[in-house]
Amino acid sequence: MSGSRASWTAFGAGKVILLGEHAVVYGHPAVAAPLSVGVRALGRPAKTCGLVLPKGLGALQRQALAAAFERAAGACGRPPVQVRLESELPRSQGLGSSAAVSVACARLLLEVGAGGKPPLLGRVEEVAHEMECVFHGTPSGVDHTTSVRGQLIRFVKGPLVAKPRVRPLRSPTPLWLVLVLAGDRGSTKESVGSLRARTGKWPERYRRLLADIGKVADEGAKAIEAGDLEALGDVMNVNHGLLHALGLSSGRLDSVVHALREAGALGAKLSGAGGKGGVVIGLFREPRGVVARLERGGLSAFATQVAGPGVE
Ligand code: MEV
Repeated sequence: MSGSRASWTAFGAGKVILLGEHAVVYGHPAVAAPLSVGVRALGRPAKTCGLVLPKGLGALQRQALAAAFERAAGACGRPPVQVRLESELPRSQGLGSSAAVSVACARLLLEVGAGGKPPLLGRVEEVAHEMECVFHGTPSGVDHTTSVRGQLIRFVKGPLVAKPRVRPLRSPTPLWLVLVLAGDRGSTKESVGSLRARTGKWPERYRRLLADIGKVADEGAKAIEAGDLEALGDVMNVNHGLLHALGLSSGRLDSVVHALREAGALGAKLSGAGGKGGVVIGLFREPRGVVARLERGGLSAFATQVAGPGVE
């Protein structure tokens, strides 16, 4: 974050979950990476603490954002700053836009509140978590923690918000993902809530599947550290199958998963909350040419290296 007497800016990165979404809410491990794109919070001195709501939001999104900002403002002692947001992330696509907003606002409010002193990571995570609770109800914390830490991590939520178990993962090989945006996915709160209802109704079956997701997430973390992309791809395919079994995929997401595999992905899966749409990721040794090919087929895609030589 950078600051001057007149204004402040703070950044929150978007995220992509490689493995373990949903199961992470139940205490199992997940693997996630930050994106280079995200949300910037810009602050100007003001008499009171407030947020300029971005244009183009629906009534419910406006309400949620205003309430989340209020929660963060309260947690930071309401520093006298007017905040506005600039986002490079599409909303409701599984790229962590709410976490990026939360991290950018938390960083900015804490820095202004401390008279320009950069905030501690743990405080940013606490305040961002407060905002994420307003957006999502019972977030695991993986989205905003990945955004704050800024590197590929293995994440397990802790008993205390501020104490997740986080381990950076080093990849000896470049880890290239192609991300396909498969349309609006609906709310994370709803998909987490409907899974919770099914888990409550059929606990043994659902807990078994969630525990399996945790196991494949750890197998994937090992594959990453060993540079074994073929094994990681297989883990991603199995993880998608388990998410499908949990009722978190859709015809649209499955067809994008197949398109990625046909385009040569070592593995492909939905990423994030799932549901009707959202983001689908494919792992490639060499993504050159893949994005153009997918786009010729009518898909909206981009490639990003999330770990390995060149980004660590
Ligand atoms: C959403 O990006 C990830 C979920 O696992 C929810 C969470 O971890 O809070 C679906």
